[in-house]
Amino acid sequence: MRENEEFRLVTHRKKRASHVRNNCHSNLSLSVNDKNDDSSINYEILLGKLHEAENELKNSMFANNVFHYLKNSLSVLNVNGISDILCYGLGHFSNRKSSKYQLALLLCLKKHYSSQVYLYDPVFSSREIELLKGLGCNIIEINEEGKHVIHDNVTLVYMPHCSIHLINNFLYANWCKKLNKCILLTNSFSIVVDNLRHSNRFTSIDYILRIEPYVTEIALKNDFLYEEAFNDLNIHIFLEENINKVPQNFWNIREEPCYQDTGIDYVTAKQTEELDTKDCCDKNET
Ligand SMILES: C[S@@+](CC[C@H](N)C(=O)[O-])C[C@H]1O[C@@H](n2cnc3c(N)ncnc32)[C@H](O)[C@@H]1O
Repeated sequence: MRENEEFRLVTHRKKRASHVRNNCHSNLSLSVNDKNDDSSINYEILLGKLHEAENELKNSMFANNVFHYLKNSLSVLNVNGISDILCYGLGHFSNRKSSKYQLALLLCLKKHYSSQVYLYDPVFSSREIELLKGLGCNIIEINEEGKHVIHDNVTLVYMPHCSIHLINNFLYANWCKKLNKCILLTNSFSIVVDNLRHSNRFTSIDYILRIEPYVTEIALKNDFLYEEAFNDLNIHIFLEENINKVPQNFWNIREEPCYQDTGIDYVTAKQTEELDTKDCCDKNET
């Protein structure tokens, strides 16, 4: 890539993130109640809070930066706009501040680019789903475990503080040259790779490790007033000239990830099915 001076490229590894992220719902703690117990949430109040957050976000330097670097990214990728936004792992935006601001950013991006938005998080409650639909977003009905296949649409893949297994799964599902249709707004790859190299998790999360030399990571200065919402999130793009440099058989080595050695840190499709069945049985009993 001809390094565009407009970008704040990540050229060296940052110090490993020392903080431990707020532990949201791990796969172990997700229960039917997490999904459905939202009878106390008032739709109008939640909508009002979201609009407030959107206004706060829209007028922030942070949002300015995101839009600035996305504009530059689209320009070097030689594309006009973002048709689709795919979002995994947003979390409970009705009661988590980080998730609320992350959704506010998503809504600003949706409006700005007139994009179609597709979301999935197994913890979304029925009230949250109702609200997202009311805001013109599409809910993905099944747990794809991150393996959504992108076709020809330019897609912003927004996975704020998501499991690295899910990011790895996404790369696996889209393991071909067409990755350059995707812009990933997610956990900093340079930090993830650095962390992986300091652990023994080399083998099973290897799509991130393999693609990293060909990724252009654009650092976002995290100066939003609520720091937790966007820390360690960066923009990642795949420039044609870098993608063209990959060895010939690079894309052919593509086995479905299997995380037996590390333990899975996302909710699997099987777990979702089990919860849905239990939920269904519980409803039938009442
Ligand atoms: C570390 S939390 C991040 C939540 C929020 N984005 C934040 O920054 O606070 C990870 C999120 O991934 C979600 N998640 C777990 N399994 C998932 C799956 N299979 N597909 C999509 N999201 C998933 C969890 O429910 C949780 O909300």
